[in-house]
Amino acid sequence: MFEILNNIEEKENINFHKPGNNKSVFIETYGCQMNLADSEIVLSVLSNYGYNETNDINNSDIILLNTCSVRENAEKKIYNRLNVLKSFKKNNPNLIIGILGCMAERLRKNLIDKQSIVDLIVGPDEFRKIPGLIENLIETGEKGIAVKLSKVETYDDITPVRKDGITAFISVMRGCDKFCTFCVVPYTRGRERSRLHESIVNETRRLFDDGLKEVTLLGQNVNSYRDGNFDFADLLEMCAKAVPQMRIRYITSHPYDLSLKLIETMASYDNICKYIHLPVQSGSDRILKLMNRMYTIEHYKSILNKTREAMPGIGLSTDIISGFPGETEDDHKLTIELLEELKYDGAFMFAYSPREHTKAFEMKNNVPDEIKKRRLSEIIEIQSLISTNLNKNLVGKTKEVLLESVSKKSDDFLMGRTDCNKSVIIPKGSFKIGDLVNVKIKRTNSATLFGDVV
Ligand code: SAH
Ligand code: SF4
Ligand code: F3S
Repeated sequence: MFEILNNIEEKENINFHKPGNNKSVFIETYGCQMNLADSEIVLSVLSNYGYNETNDINNSDIILLNTCSVRENAEKKIYNRLNVLKSFKKNNPNLIIGILGCMAERLRKNLIDKQSIVDLIVGPDEFRKIPGLIENLIETGEKGIAVKLSKVETYDDITPVRKDGITAFISVMRGCDKFCTFCVVPYTRGRERSRLHESIVNETRRLFDDGLKEVTLLGQNVNSYRDGNFDFADLLEMCAKAVPQMRIRYITSHPYDLSLKLIETMASYDNICKYIHLPVQSGSDRILKLMNRMYTIEHYKSILNKTREAMPGIGLSTDIISGFPGETEDDHKLTIELLEELKYDGAFMFAYSPREHTKAFEMKNNVPDEIKKRRLSEIIEIQSLISTNLNKNLVGKTKEVLLESVSKKSDDFLMGRTDCNKSVIIPKGSFKIGDLVNVKIKRTNSATLFGDVV
């Protein structure tokens, strides 16, 4: 085994087998939307070298797992998956198994040392090297590792290979410089860098011409997007203006730099969806400080109130971490009170998971697992009640819904979303994916609305 890292500069000049190569690649994506967008970039890089994507894992030559490290459970999933893949490798010793993304970046060579079935380890800034690493592996049997983080790589010139559908993700920036003390992302994804605004606007336009109806602009912290003098509000406005019939969403915002200008921009364009995911993490200023979140609850509430004033009825969701080191029962109560006061439409709630190398990992006063779990279930219960009640108020109302896909539960139903990001299920009838329809809501639960087109 050797580390391709040191040798890659010369290897880049070698002409790898271009078209004619008939190897098939199966890629499985874990983690956040950034990873979904990254898998589309990986497929694009590979297709330029003649590789074909397959949906049939049993007949693939290469299996790639694009991984997440954000919590221990996310990594456990991959270890379990690798256990299953052992039998695949036994049946086909030529099968190539690669780990891409955040876990590759975090664990690097250790992952290959511990998991002998893994042949490739490629971090999020090194996807261009995958074809070379595969070629080298086939020729020499040497396993490949490429995990350098870049200050400039944005894959701006690569057109992602997207699945058919009417919605798409466009990643507008990569990396994160916030260094929240619990979070592994700045270590796995490196420094913040933004794509050029022209290229993002052009991509939005091109997707519209291809028949897409909605794009989501992606970044770990889109509010720190910067291209010369243009900030994220400018970018959003440029996209909204360039394609007025395209629905435009974005995730994720950090409360520290969500600007009034962005709120005004959102309010000014009908095609910018009225939905913000604004992770608060905790209701306690003391804990927010320990998390290095750089805002107070007072500041957070003032942004949220301004957002609601500017866009009444806007959909809002958040992330909560329960059981951060040193979190007391009083801190936990403050989080519950905040949820009760702000009444988010939805929330993603997690038990704190210690991540090596982060600042919080070194902190004392870890909350015992049972207490973490109990607090988490209290939070989930309260939020679920809030979401259920908010949704109940929608019964009898009519909402505009963009139909996105067939319902996961039945082919006789379609799933769409409102502008405010609520999922809606309707009987399929003669409607098709891509239709924008008015739906009268008949019944609801905490996560979904059900209705009929009127
Ligand atoms: N960039 C986004 C969040 C990315 S990670 C933001 O800052 O809002 C998504 C969510 O995972 C975070 O908001 C946080 O709630 C959760 N998370 C991150 N690290 C975690 C950890 N170590 N343990 C538990 N939850 C964590
Ligand atoms: Fe992680 Fe904080 Fe960056 Fe979000 S803003 S990715 S939570 S460090
Ligand atoms: Fe996970 Fe990496 Fe996204 S750690 S949440 S896949 S940025």
